[in-house]
Amino acid sequence: MLTDEQLMIQSMVREFSRKVVAATAAERDQTKEFPADNFKKMGELGLMGMMVPTEYGGEGTDTVSYVLALSEIAYSCASTAVVMSVHNSIVCESLVKFGTEEQKKKYLPRLSSAEWIGAFALTEPQAGSDPVSQMTAAERDGKYYVINGNKRFITSGKNGGLIIITAKTDESERHKGISAFLVENGTPGLIVGREEDKMGLRASDTTDLIFENCRVPAENMLGKEGEGFKIAMTALDCGRIGIAAQSVGVAQAALDAAVKYSKDREQFGQNICKFQGIRWTIAEMATEIEAARQLMFSAARMKDKGEKFTQQASMAKLFASEMVNRIVGKALQLHGGYGFTKDYPVERMYRDARVFTIYEGTSEIQRIVISDHVIKDKRQS
Ligand code: CAA
Repeated sequence: MLTDEQLMIQSMVREFSRKVVAATAAERDQTKEFPADNFKKMGELGLMGMMVPTEYGGEGTDTVSYVLALSEIAYSCASTAVVMSVHNSIVCESLVKFGTEEQKKKYLPRLSSAEWIGAFALTEPQAGSDPVSQMTAAERDGKYYVINGNKRFITSGKNGGLIIITAKTDESERHKGISAFLVENGTPGLIVGREEDKMGLRASDTTDLIFENCRVPAENMLGKEGEGFKIAMTALDCGRIGIAAQSVGVAQAALDAAVKYSKDREQFGQNICKFQGIRWTIAEMATEIEAARQLMFSAARMKDKGEKFTQQASMAKLFASEMVNRIVGKALQLHGGYGFTKDYPVERMYRDARVFTIYEGTSEIQRIVISDHVIKDKRQS
């Protein structure tokens, strides 16, 4: 059951998304133009600091409201949704949880208003699923840390105003030798590298970030020295609920598009939605989406109650991201030859959804996290 406030947020974002975000989604997929103007509006609507406490300029809403809003944005444009997700789930949440009072006062109002977009730099060319093997290093030099290294596949690497970056502060330690830093875009020594030419999510920039003797004030360390891996893992737990929400949004949009098409399209003298084969496909699609939605809610509710939600977030991410890839495939099939053209939005959805089983932890990584939890619980009982 959703509260009146949650339903109100959902309805407000639905209206905004279907009027404003949807209007340029197909065009931006072609031009790769970053929807900066939409993020300004989303900042005004309170969508860029949803779970940030009001004293820091945010909305102070719960995670359930947030996933409802994120799904609605993803319904119209998955590129806009991924930027919103990294910004809210990873960057704002990490600052709220691990930031000092000064860091929160300095950065959260700018992030909540969307003056700055947040980015998160963990991945490196040789360190994806295994982030402990990262090479980027931060060396203390008086009141600064000097950062050197390369980051890869950074969402909003070019358009981000504030980047949370992880770097090794102690080579001799494993994950406990990694620390996190808040780096402002434009800091000397931070270079935006090549931008990926991606198959989907084309209006969201994904870039390399190169750190060449980049001097970051010591007070910009997020959390304590050696806490960077824990901060990244905690952030990814929140992020994975966000990917589940994106998956649910795109899947719902694909189903709605397929239903509309099947009601309009006539073959063999009747609308194709009257054929049992099509009806059964639609029934299975709707059921799968609802199952993913409930897993998404259950992870969000556990987080809101202050319970441990790592396992639930991974389950929601695993199931929802694999679900949406089945749904967009079926929705495209239902459109026949037209689904293979850019005249119908399902072609874009098919490409956008492909990365959902990869970023913020592949399906294989989610299976590791889930099985670790299941097996540990069995040992405890
Ligand atoms: N929350 C808090 N702490 C956690 C944690 C969590 N969810 N998971 C692990 N930790 C802690 C452990 O407790 C342990 O700490 P202690 O030693 O103090 O007990 C420490 O982290 C190390 O744990 P592990 O030994 O289990 O770590 P590991 O090296 O074996 O890795 C992993 C575990 C789950 C495989 C992890 O590496 C992982 O999630 N990998 C995937 C990385 C990933 O998702 N990358 C995506 C990039 S970001 C992205 O895509 C963003 C974007 O822009 C869209």
